[in-house]
Amino acid sequence: MKLKLLITCALSLSLFSCTSRQEAEEAAKGSPSPVDAAIEQPEEHGTEVKEIVLSNPLNMEWVEAAKIIYDTKCLSCHKLTDEKVVGPGWKDVTKRRQPVWIMNMITNVDMMLEEDEEAQKLLEQCLVRMPNQNISQDEARQLIEFMRHNDGEK
Ligand code: HEC
Repeated sequence: MKLKLLITCALSLSLFSCTSRQEAEEAAKGSPSPVDAAIEQPEEHGTEVKEIVLSNPLNMEWVEAAKIIYDTKCLSCHKLTDEKVVGPGWKDVTKRRQPVWIMNMITNVDMMLEEDEEAQKLLEQCLVRMPNQNISQDEARQLIEFMRHNDGEK
């Protein structure tokens, strides 16, 4: 199980251009990547996301890849329940927010905190600005899948 997770991780990482991920790229060389064909938003972070296509059923490869991102970059501030830590808990976040809104919150948090009323309301409640985590649009898309999974979608 653990090995499968590692492989999934290596496969997904192999898509991103970041040089620090070269090792993962090496490891995944030669294997076909499931994420490659399926992700529709290849642009880097910093561009406003206008539309995303939700897959049905969930793409479990993305859920697993995003679990690793969550553990390293989000877990310290966001629980998977409805309990607030630094930021709001993620339970039902996919029900109270549009996927595009979530994508922009993840990849364009500064823009959202400046321009979006709902994001500003959250900042008033949490009193901490969510930091820009340098998440690519591909990674953000995987995180949406992870949140949908956390909200019970199949
Ligand atoms: C240092 C703490 C911190 C980290 C790390 C962090 N966030 Fe946040 N996040 C916040 C805060 C605080 C808010 C509320 C808005 C604000 O105050 O800026 C927020 C809001 C959000 C929201 C909106 C939640 C809602 O209920 O509408 C999403 C989605 C989100 N974050 C995703 C992420 C993702 C994905 C990661 C990891 C890649 C992440 N955050 C990492 C602090 C954090």
